Amino acid sequence: MQPFSLALLVSFITIAVAGSYNYKQVLQQSLLFYEAQRSGKLPADQRVTWRKDSALNDKGDNGEDLTGGYFDAGDFVKFGFPMAYTTTVLSWGLLDHQSGYQSASSVEECLKAIKWATDYFIKCHVSEYEYYGQVGSGNVDHNYWGRPEDMAEARPAYKITTSKPGSDLAAETAAAFAAASLVFKSSNPTYAKTLLTHAEQMYDFGYKYRGLFSDSITDSKCCYTSTHYEDELVWGAAWLYRATNDKKYLGYVDELWDSFKNMYGFDWDQKFGGAVVLLAKLTGDTKYKSAITNYCNYVYNQGTRTSKGLIFIYDWGPLRYAINIAYVCLQAADLGINAASYRAEAKKQVDYALGDAGRSYVIGFGNNPPTHAHHRAASCPDKPAVCNWNTYSGTQPNAHVLYGGLVGGPNKSDEFVDVRSDWRHTEVGCDYNACFQSILAHFIELGY
Ligand SMILES: *[C@@H]1O[C@H](CO)[C@@H](O)[C@H](O)[C@H]1NC(C)=O
Repeated sequence: MQPFSLALLVSFITIAVAGSYNYKQVLQQSLLFYEAQRSGKLPADQRVTWRKDSALNDKGDNGEDLTGGYFDAGDFVKFGFPMAYTTTVLSWGLLDHQSGYQSASSVEECLKAIKWATDYFIKCHVSEYEYYGQVGSGNVDHNYWGRPEDMAEARPAYKITTSKPGSDLAAETAAAFAAASLVFKSSNPTYAKTLLTHAEQMYDFGYKYRGLFSDSITDSKCCYTSTHYEDELVWGAAWLYRATNDKKYLGYVDELWDSFKNMYGFDWDQKFGGAVVLLAKLTGDTKYKSAITNYCNYVYNQGTRTSKGLIFIYDWGPLRYAINIAYVCLQAADLGINAASYRAEAKKQVDYALGDAGRSYVIGFGNNPPTHAHHRAASCPDKPAVCNWNTYSGTQPNAHVLYGGLVGGPNKSDEFVDVRSDWRHTEVGCDYNACFQSILAHFIELGY
C-alpha cells in the first residue's frame, strides 16, 4: 500500500473510532423502546401507536387492579424484580445526568417512563407486608406467540408476604421508590412523598422478613432466579440514605458489609458495583472508593473480552453486562477514580453496541441494525393479519421497528445471527436498556 493511502486509511480509522454516534438520538429512541414495553391502558400521548391496550384484567387475589407496568422483554410477563432494577437505574440516570436529558429534550419523557413503573409498583404494594412481584406465568406465557392485545391465557399474580418473603425484591423495589422520589421531589412533591413512604415500608419489609423472592415466587425461576439478597439490602439502604439522610440506613450497610463485599457484579440480580459507587459518592468513604476501584480494575484488566474488545461476562444478553459495568465505572470516573481510562472504556463498550464492531445492535439505529429481534409485539403485523408461531419462525423481518431496543448482542466470537429464535442474542429487555439509557445521558453531559 502507498504511504499516502495508508495515511488516508489511518485518518479514516481515527475518525471512525472517534465515533460520532448521535447519542441524543439513541437516548430518544430508548425512551420509545420503553413506551413499546408498556402494559395496560395506553395513554393518549402514546407515540408508539402500533402498540394497543393489553392485559387489562391483571388482578391480585382479592381483585386488586394490577394493570400497568412493563412487559419484561420480548414476552408479556411482568416480572417485578428486573422492572424495579430498571426503574432504579433510570431514576439514577435522570437524577445525576439531568443536563444530558435536557440537551436531548427528553426530561419529560424520562419522567413518564419512570412513573409508568412506579404507578404500577404502588398498585402492587397492596398492604405493608404484601407486594405483588409478578403478573403472568413465565411457563404459560412463553407458549404464546402473538399480539399482547390478543393474549387469552390466564395471568396469575404472585406476591411476597411475611410467610413468603423476598428481601431482594422488596429492597430493590424500595430502591426504585426512593430513587424515583428524588426524581419527582421538585416537580411533584406530593407524589414524591408517597413514593418515599412506599420506599421506607418496602425496605422494612425486606429487612425484617428475609428470603429470596424466587424461592417464594417460584414461577420466576424460568427467567430470574435471584442468587442473594444482601446486595439488594445494601443497595436499597444506599438509596434510602440518599433520599432521607437517615443514618440508620448506613448502619444497615455496615451490618451487611461482610457478607456483601465480594459480590462483584452489576445487573438485575447483582447490585455490588452500583451500591459501592453510590456509597462512595454519598459518603466519600475510602472503603467504598477502594471497592469500586478494585471492581472496575478487575473487570477491565482481567475480565474476559471478545477479540473486538467487548467485555464478555455471560452469553445471555452480553451487551447489557458490558454497558452496566461501563456505567458504574463511569460514575467512579466522576469521583476522580482513573477518570481517563474508565471514560475511554465506557465509550468503547457503548460504541461497540452502536456500530464499532461492524453493525448496530440497537433496533432502528445506525448501520445494519437488527430487524428480527425476539419480540412478539413487534413481530406481529397489524390486524387482521394472523400472528402466531409461524410468524415467529418465518424469515421475514419484524413488522414494526422497535426503535431504541438494545438486543442481547454478539457471542464470544463477536458474531451475531439476526434470527428471532436466538433469544439469548436477539431479545431485548427492560433491564438491558436501563444502564444503556443512563450512560447515554452521561455521555451527552460529558460532551461526547
Ligand atoms: C458464534 O456464532 C457463530 C455463528 O453462529 C458460530 O459459528 C460460532 O461458533 C459462535 N461462537 C461461539 C464462541 O459461540
